[in-house]
Amino acid sequence: MIFGRVKSLDAILATAEKKSLHRSLGAFQLTMLGIGAVIGTGIFVLTAEAAQKAGPGMMLSFVIAGFVCAVAALCYAEMAAMVPVSGSAYTYSYAVMGELVAWMVGWALILEYAVAAGAVSVGWSGYVVGLLENAFSIDIPDMLVRGPYDGGLVNLPAMAIAGLVTWLLVIGTKESAFVNSILVLIKVAALTLFIILAVPVMNMQNFEPFSPLGFAGVSAAAASIFFAYVGFDAVSTAAEETKNPQRNMPIGLIGSLAICTIFYLLVAAGVIGSVGAQPMLGPDGAALPPGSVELTKACADHVAATGRDAVVCSKEALAWTLREIGWPQVGNLIGLAAGLALPSVILMMMFGQTRIFFVMSRDGLLPAVFSKVHPKFHTPHVITILTGVFVALFAAFFPVGKLADISNSGTLFAFAAVSIAVLVLRRTDATRHRPFRTPLIVVTAPIAVLGCVYLFYSLGHDTKMMFLVWAAIGLVVYFAYSRGKSHVGRGLTEVHEPEAYDDLDPPVPGTR
Ligand code: ALA
Repeated sequence: MIFGRVKSLDAILATAEKKSLHRSLGAFQLTMLGIGAVIGTGIFVLTAEAAQKAGPGMMLSFVIAGFVCAVAALCYAEMAAMVPVSGSAYTYSYAVMGELVAWMVGWALILEYAVAAGAVSVGWSGYVVGLLENAFSIDIPDMLVRGPYDGGLVNLPAMAIAGLVTWLLVIGTKESAFVNSILVLIKVAALTLFIILAVPVMNMQNFEPFSPLGFAGVSAAAASIFFAYVGFDAVSTAAEETKNPQRNMPIGLIGSLAICTIFYLLVAAGVIGSVGAQPMLGPDGAALPPGSVELTKACADHVAATGRDAVVCSKEALAWTLREIGWPQVGNLIGLAAGLALPSVILMMMFGQTRIFFVMSRDGLLPAVFSKVHPKFHTPHVITILTGVFVALFAAFFPVGKLADISNSGTLFAFAAVSIAVLVLRRTDATRHRPFRTPLIVVTAPIAVLGCVYLFYSLGHDTKMMFLVWAAIGLVVYFAYSRGKSHVGRGLTEVHEPEAYDDLDPPVPGTR
């Protein structure tokens, strides 16, 4: 029953074949695409939160999270190359494990994409506000740039950037490969500059104690910093446009993850070594939760007592570190780089979300109005605006770390589902042509699943509860609405209009 209503893989592939996009991407472009989607709020902002959870031990957290992503990426790549259609994990699950699992994956992907877009909006706000304050001496009251959990009222800049990106998506803005390359260069240049200035002034004593909160702290930070790697699935969704995917896909996926991991480790070492990264502890000796009123207050007390701020208190960790070590102008430049480049990560995330809603609506699981296409712009404007409203609300009222953790819970669920699907399909459909095969699947897939379970388990209690509540709501919606409306359930597999779909399924942003 649970695994019933499987959507035929051949029907899915027939849809994909109608589109037949030109295969133009090589390993280099794929790697650029991956780096473009991956580097963002995670490294620029959440480094401070990881330090608050693990202290210098966050170095290990980056390695653990990167490793789990790499094994999951290898599984993703097999599916992406074999089923190169919109909807990624949702579509793969529909074909292998049936409608209920697919629905739950799609429901979890809302967390991955929409909530992540909110998190990156909040991260962007931290840098832009810091830049305005430091470079232009424009002081914006905390009440208007922090949500209520963080000691403020509403985060207006975060709301504004989410609104702007929504508008760009409605009018059909597609980030070109050229713009993507420029933004990748800006981000890589910013991180390189940071490393060049921070690493030489490292003081090894700042690495002691290495893990003040033990391995539990390292695991908790790994579960959060996992966010810094999310987005590589953009590479797998470009499978259909890739030349020789068997060779180029793994290079693109593993290459972009490897490059990001090296950057992340050097940046983390630079932060820890140059300014220290010990967590702020409460009276009971436990680390105060990032993004909480308690931490905001402890940070204010720390400044009052010592005259110095701390990196774990910063909303713009890298810019703050550079100002602290005597490079205020370069710190502002990093702020500018983040301000310019992070909106493209928001765009990628919201683009992914609208396409998943579109596919779910086309399958009948969500109302048909969600797949309505704008007559002039050829974009799914209804669902884009609805997504934008929610992203703006998340961004306005929640702290970045909470949003990132919630997003991670959904992503980990989807990654685990895809890893299982790849393994199952090897058994149930062994002879199907696979443009890319995950190496050592019997080892890789179980490691990916276990890694996802471990990181999920390491998330905070509240986040896990939120995920469970979200999943429960998803089940209610499915049985109350979607199950009855499902096209597969009603035997209508071909009800979508291929023209609208063709129009609507432009290449992944940044590929052309
Ligand atoms: N990995 C992306 C970021 O860190 C989502 O912003």
